[in-house]
Amino acid sequence: MVRGERPRQTRCNESAKSDRHSVCLALFTATRQHGIIRLMEQQILEIDHAGWHIGAANDEWIAALEAGKVLYFPRLAFTLTEKERRFLTPDIRDPKTRNISLDAKGRLKGALGDAASQAEVAAMIGRFRMQAQSLIHSLLPRYASQKVPVGDTDALRLAPTSYRPSKVETRTQSWRADDRRLHIDAFPSRPNYGERILRVFTNVNPDGIPRVWRVGEPFEVVARHFLPRVKPYSSWQAHLLSVLRVTKSLRSEYDHLMLQLHDGMKSDLDYQQDAHQVTMPFPAGSVWVCFSDQTSHAVMSGQYMLEQTFHLPAARQYDVDSSPLAILTRLTGRTLA
Ligand SMILES: [Fe+2]
Repeated sequence: MVRGERPRQTRCNESAKSDRHSVCLALFTATRQHGIIRLMEQQILEIDHAGWHIGAANDEWIAALEAGKVLYFPRLAFTLTEKERRFLTPDIRDPKTRNISLDAKGRLKGALGDAASQAEVAAMIGRFRMQAQSLIHSLLPRYASQKVPVGDTDALRLAPTSYRPSKVETRTQSWRADDRRLHIDAFPSRPNYGERILRVFTNVNPDGIPRVWRVGEPFEVVARHFLPRVKPYSSWQAHLLSVLRVTKSLRSEYDHLMLQLHDGMKSDLDYQQDAHQVTMPFPAGSVWVCFSDQTSHAVMSGQYMLEQTFHLPAARQYDVDSSPLAILTRLTGRTLA
């Protein structure tokens, strides 16, 4: 599709001046004052639900999430205890690591401080993990429990939970690692063969500073734009990378294409500026959920965020045809993973 043919969307791009940014914020605030649940933007679905458990699965929300939209819960907050508020400082992060994380076995990494305070940090992150699990299990019950010949199985695989106390704006990194550029998540060293990356985020900023994202176009629009210029997949190169242990397993054609999309988006400054997108300031005290391997996103600013990642086989989705693997398979006409 020619970019000029794309449907018009409300757009506040990276190059917008601060007054335009203020207009976006004002529009956002004004929009919030109408209705309970509505489509704010084509790529963001606002959900007026304040608990970590969803009473009944909602087909519209599930379809929106699997279509690559962001589910945004403006009234759902992760609340720190009075004692935990002392961890709201970037000084608790070991400068040698990017984030503080709690792995699936409960081991804390990247935090400074004595054993007692590290245990409290781990408990805080662990509490967020439990709430994120409750949200995802109740929001998407089929992911967590599916009838199989013998019993039910949980298809969700828990990844480490992270706490990010540092300011996004002050981070300096290469263009490829710069998450302030629109991208979809794809990892060079960890091939995943189409396994989904589902993420729950919460902004815990104590000063009310939003975490500002840009959210871009639907995955298929991105893929159609960049696929014609991707480098062809080379199986011998994939084997070499695996033998040299650059990758943890053999990079599939799917993983190759996802990396090419990721790099193509980030390296194209015209695309960064001109692609249809919306700036979204996620307020302190809110939660948002998306498939980050599918949702075009950029993290522009903010400080103090917790995040939980889950992995899911694409075959366990409600609509398997909406996954990046299914879309890329359809667009290329090849088996990719
Ligand atoms: Fe990302």
